[in-house]
Amino acid sequence: MTQERWTAVDEYVSGLLAPYDDALDAALRASDEAGLPAIQVSPPQGKLLQLLALALGARTILEFGTLGGYSTIWLGRALPDDGRLITLEASPEYAEVARGSIERAGLGDVVDLRVGPALDTLPLLDAESAGPFDLTFIDADKVNTPNYFAWALEHSRPGGLIVADNVVRGGALADANSDDPTIPAQRRFHEMLAAEPRVSATTIQTVGIKGYDGFTIALVLS
Ligand code: SAH
Ligand code: DHB
Ligand code: MG
Repeated sequence: MTQERWTAVDEYVSGLLAPYDDALDAALRASDEAGLPAIQVSPPQGKLLQLLALALGARTILEFGTLGGYSTIWLGRALPDDGRLITLEASPEYAEVARGSIERAGLGDVVDLRVGPALDTLPLLDAESAGPFDLTFIDADKVNTPNYFAWALEHSRPGGLIVADNVVRGGALADANSDDPTIPAQRRFHEMLAAEPRVSATTIQTVGIKGYDGFTIALVLS
């Protein structure tokens, strides 16, 4: 199977189940025009995040890694009018682009975008007694996935979900001696999940327009 085939299937699925949408399309164009990397979730993955949030009846969402706000819009649309999505982005330039796209999507009142490295922002969220969160999406700097997971676990409601993107990286997850510096962090994340009685988790490998990767879903039990 080839990348071409994976892309064709993603396009087929997107066309029917995640079809053209003004605000999402405008967000991608704004990202592209501003020179942001095109590393946002694929449309079917964005739809999955939205479905998970809807299935949970989520009212509070935490996102690590906003980029241009594409996944933020998918998730934000699952929230009720009085819901809250806090999204953390290290880059002020990316955050500026995201802010415009989130506003254009009509989610300005629901989305709370915090600029700065997430590990610096988290103590501020603690000081505000932010959370508990129904759903957390971890998609920022991959070396910190274990740190973000640890914080998210302490700030999740029982029955909530923690989703982490980019955990498989072309299969490198299985390699104890990977050259990819993010892989030891993803392996440590999996070891944390295995040892943590408060969650039950699995990882699903994916192929699609973004190549071969995968995501983890952890259900917070208590
Ligand atoms: N969730 C987005 C994609 C995020 S890409 C989507 O699917 O649409 C990863 C993002 O994490 C980038 O925008 C990058 O700037 C941001 N990032 C990198 N290091 C970070 C950090 N320490 N804290 C917060 N965000 C960070
Ligand atoms: C890449 C992909 C992602 O989904 C992400 O969040 C960050 C980087 C990448 O392919 O480089
Ligand atoms: Mg990602």
